[in-house]
Amino acid sequence: MTIAQTHAQALGEEDSIWFKLTALVTTPDPMATLIRLSEKYGGCIPVRLKNQKLWLLSDVEHFRQVLVSNAENYEKYFEGMKAIFGKSMITVDGALWQQLRKPQQSSFHPSKYSIYYPYLQQAIREKVAHWADLAKSGEEFELVEETWSLAADMVCKALFDRDMPYNPQVVFGAVKAYTDVMNHKTIRLKKVSGELTEISGEEAAKAIETWWEVPEQVIGAQPRDYRDDTLLAMLKAAELDPDLPEFDHQQVVDEMKQYLWAGTETTALTLAWALYLTTKHPEVAEKIRREGEDVYGDREPTWEDLQKLSYTRSVLQETLRLYPPIWALIRTAVNDDKIGEHEIKAGDKVVLCIYVVHQNAKIWTNPQKFDPTRFSPDRMKRRPGYSYLPFSAGRRACIGGQLSLVENTLALTTLLRRFRPEFAGEEPVQLNATVTLTPKGGLPFRIHELS
Ligand code: HEM
Repeated sequence: MTIAQTHAQALGEEDSIWFKLTALVTTPDPMATLIRLSEKYGGCIPVRLKNQKLWLLSDVEHFRQVLVSNAENYEKYFEGMKAIFGKSMITVDGALWQQLRKPQQSSFHPSKYSIYYPYLQQAIREKVAHWADLAKSGEEFELVEETWSLAADMVCKALFDRDMPYNPQVVFGAVKAYTDVMNHKTIRLKKVSGELTEISGEEAAKAIETWWEVPEQVIGAQPRDYRDDTLLAMLKAAELDPDLPEFDHQQVVDEMKQYLWAGTETTALTLAWALYLTTKHPEVAEKIRREGEDVYGDREPTWEDLQKLSYTRSVLQETLRLYPPIWALIRTAVNDDKIGEHEIKAGDKVVLCIYVVHQNAKIWTNPQKFDPTRFSPDRMKRRPGYSYLPFSAGRRACIGGQLSLVENTLALTTLLRRFRPEFAGEEPVQLNATVTLTPKGGLPFRIHELS
């Protein structure tokens, strides 16, 4: 059996916490179910399963404890994700994590963003040209596929000095189906009933093999500008550095996997949800256009202009509150601990429900309302800590969150200045809560040129 087939076999195993959560989140409105549970039973809810205890957390103090003040006691839970991320830093803990993160950190220092900016702009320019064709043909398309390919191209160009050398629709489409928790469940149920055929295992394995080829394709592709200031250049230097023995070639490949996936799907979902929200709130789309007109008029926005697009940025921040792509984080308790009045035992899993905190009416007035002005500087100051966590918090917080806001602010202003997106699907859009929060059935769109 190949390694990919072994991963395929491991899918949907009963032990997977994501599989166990499936029962909770397969209700028609999974997030509303979680909110109701927290309103009824509080911010720390024990869930007893056959051989495992879970705690659903949604109190900001508990987030602080697990992510910051007692973070050493809570290990990352990443089972089932190794096929996607390998042994990249996102999946490991402790000293090894520190050794892996340290050399990569500098590629995400804000001083680097202006260097990446022209490459982000180039990727967006190419997407605009493609959307002009889509507007002409009037054809319907899947928005998340479009924003995902843009996000992947931005990462390839800016961080790796490569044009995207693969078709992200094919790669991500195949592997997304593989990782979908609903899919895990189907496979598991088929296993239980003895229906699982070798073919579905083979297909899943093939999807993973396709994905595993991608980082090497990126590394092997022609550099655009032979820059030496990229994340890829840094990773390659680490591979050759005798003082960094953990960075062998496989480690470089695995770090690339994490950027090509975790650094693109999340950015893509945010931009797609933001575009969707602006179709429901045309006054917000107009305000974004007016801000662009005032700041950069008819030319392309410069890096300095981008700093002034505070309203456009606040639309993305509010989108991340309403649709946090990572809606929950899972950790395993290493030693016994106390959360509030509750005794947490070593081995228990805690599920930090980011989505529920973002909908807490005691923190957010009228939480279901889409209101970008919540993120105006004076209103932001009044919020309690750990109440807004799209990028998590503490030392394991997202390395690329601020970069994604740069990417998406530029993308949103550029796309809306030229186009009027039209949602072509059915309301209400239902949510699929797997590892990421995605629109069930996708977001079908059409695009129109503004006259
Ligand atoms: C809207 C966009 C994004 C969102 C919502 C997001 C969210 C997150 C969250 C919640 C985590 C913590 C996961 C955990 O603790 O289990 C994380 C980690 C991470 N993210 Fe992001 N992310 C985004 C964009 C990016 C981008 C653009 C990159 C890089 C190109 C990136 C790279 C990473 C990496 C490498 C980690 C692991 C950090 C570590 O373990 O030290 N993310 N992200």
